[in-house]
Amino acid sequence: MRPTQSPFPATRLRRTRQSPAIRALTRQNSLSVDDFIWPVFVRAGEGIEEPIPSMPGVYRRSVDKIAKAAREAADLGIKAICIFPYTGIEERTEDCAGAWDPENHANRAIRAIKAEVPELAVMTDVALDTYNINGHDGFVEDGEIVNDRTVEALVKMTLAQADAGADIIGPSDMMDGRVGAMRQALEAAGHQNVMILSYSAKYASAFYGPFRDAVGASGALTGDKKTYQMDPGNSDEALRLIERDLREGADMVMVKPGLPYLDICRRVKETFGAPTYAYQVSGEFSMIQAAAQHGWIDGEKVMMESLMAFKRAGCDGILTYFAPAAARVLNGQR
Ligand code: PBG
Repeated sequence: MRPTQSPFPATRLRRTRQSPAIRALTRQNSLSVDDFIWPVFVRAGEGIEEPIPSMPGVYRRSVDKIAKAAREAADLGIKAICIFPYTGIEERTEDCAGAWDPENHANRAIRAIKAEVPELAVMTDVALDTYNINGHDGFVEDGEIVNDRTVEALVKMTLAQADAGADIIGPSDMMDGRVGAMRQALEAAGHQNVMILSYSAKYASAFYGPFRDAVGASGALTGDKKTYQMDPGNSDEALRLIERDLREGADMVMVKPGLPYLDICRRVKETFGAPTYAYQVSGEFSMIQAAAQHGWIDGEKVMMESLMAFKRAGCDGILTYFAPAAARVLNGQR
């Protein structure tokens, strides 16, 4: 238990803030490059690095450029990268067959990274939205996002990613029962060491807007994702989802978005003690970048402060588009 504070002047709480050395000594939490998972966007073509207007400083890259970016990330000390495919409307279908095609851009990127940067952990995204003509994470039948048929497709997608060499599977779809189905299929296929980092507590959030531009889903999406993603008013439900996913075989769990949901991160970490991650999503990133570009905030300082907030809330790591920039700051490279 905490001792009761003795009164001023016996206790001057400013004493431990008096110099950089003392502040460093008494600092409770710290940030390290080991804490980051870097989300990247891969697209068709070669030699392409195209900026995403709603995410200043973020690019869609062809497979060759992704491999190069992965090398640079590893050289900065980053330990993990997460691959999201961009698909044009012409590559999207109702049956979402591209999702489990071993030769899709995402799977080619996994193989290229594992060949060139084997020490880097590669995480994937499992959901149908980037291959679906209507932009939803599951199959749509008569206006309903159907669960069980979607889970079968997600399992095929998972196995294709594991076969390509993925280390960490990232189901972001919010269908019920997918983690258990994926875990069983991985075991049966001899992929018992492939991990699952489940997007367990994923909210139906407007903070995903820029991401949907980045993956080409903005024009495609009809309606919203409220029948599968969580209601922002809920907190206990997040714990039930995490408990369920851990029981079904998730190795790590995620809360998403990040900063607006730090209360959930704290509850999850305290309740389960499992490896807990937060996703600082596209809208959170772009708000900081936009304000910094206007000169309204110091972008670098706000970036570092926002990342520290996740550690303070109990997270073990953060998926963040800032990973390379923050790594450079931590390495003293700027
Ligand atoms: C989709 C997916 C989304 C994000 C990651 N995976 C968007 C959505 O659910 O619509 C959002 C990431 C971000 O905003 O940075 N399966």
